[in-house]
Amino acid sequence: MKPAASPTTNNPLQSLEEWEDFVKERYPEPAAANEPFKATDPDKKKEAFRNYEADARPTVREFYRMNHRHQTLEFVQAKKKEFLSFSRRKMSIWEAMEYLNTLVDDSDPDTDLSQLEHLLQAAEQIRKDGHPRWFILTGLIHDLGKILCLYGEPQWAVVGDTFPVGCAHSDTIVFPQFFADNPDSQNPRFQTKLGVYEEGCGLDNVHLSWGHDEYIYQVAKDYLPEEGLYMLRYHSFYPGHREGAYDFLMNDKDRKMFEWVRAFNPYDLYTKSHVKPDVAALKPFYDDLIAEFFPAQLNW
Ligand SMILES: [Fe+2]
Repeated sequence: MKPAASPTTNNPLQSLEEWEDFVKERYPEPAAANEPFKATDPDKKKEAFRNYEADARPTVREFYRMNHRHQTLEFVQAKKKEFLSFSRRKMSIWEAMEYLNTLVDDSDPDTDLSQLEHLLQAAEQIRKDGHPRWFILTGLIHDLGKILCLYGEPQWAVVGDTFPVGCAHSDTIVFPQFFADNPDSQNPRFQTKLGVYEEGCGLDNVHLSWGHDEYIYQVAKDYLPEEGLYMLRYHSFYPGHREGAYDFLMNDKDRKMFEWVRAFNPYDLYTKSHVKPDVAALKPFYDDLIAEFFPAQLNW
């Protein structure tokens, strides 16, 4: 066990999974299958959110405090400039999985699986449920963007529920009070409902808070079907795919594609078990699957 993180550190979480465990506490059940897209339920009790917040570990609380304070429109644009030129590494998908595996999260009490085993576990569950090959592959790679941590990025710029920047923050985002410390909250231009965006402009024209979703989407965007790309890009956008917030920024294509984002969410959130996948036995299947869609080397 690592010692408890000091609240002043840039990386308050003991492991990235601490954030995912918190999300799972907030959403203990998968969304009902085929649930129609709906805007935020006005009857939803506010206290429910407060309970998740009250029960959150101090490390998780601190993580969200930093995330909400620092994720501004300017920050997101700067990170896109910094990372989306893909000039850091050349790696195959499998090499990226092995690289991510060097990120050691040894203090997660709920699992003793490596990052690579987590990815295989999600992919294997998708495969067992009979989904198409691109869907399995999407599950395999969906968290590869977490290699941002290995580039020295702070946890709050890699994981966390994502949300649009440059417009008012939805109160469906967990710990909304922490946005008081975000400089964008003082800018009236960014605090109207639409902010810098136009109604129905489509999410492709919207900047979400920066993290591992956007990074892996941009790496993969020439190679996977659009349904898979939506899963990569928006799997942490809980205000959008679980709360129905920000519908006014979406277009009809987004709404249709979010059915796939919601179909993916159970594999992201609820497939973790202690059963270790047999990496050596599975590798030939995944080598073939990767080669079917991706070139031998990708820019990261
Ligand atoms: Fe993720």
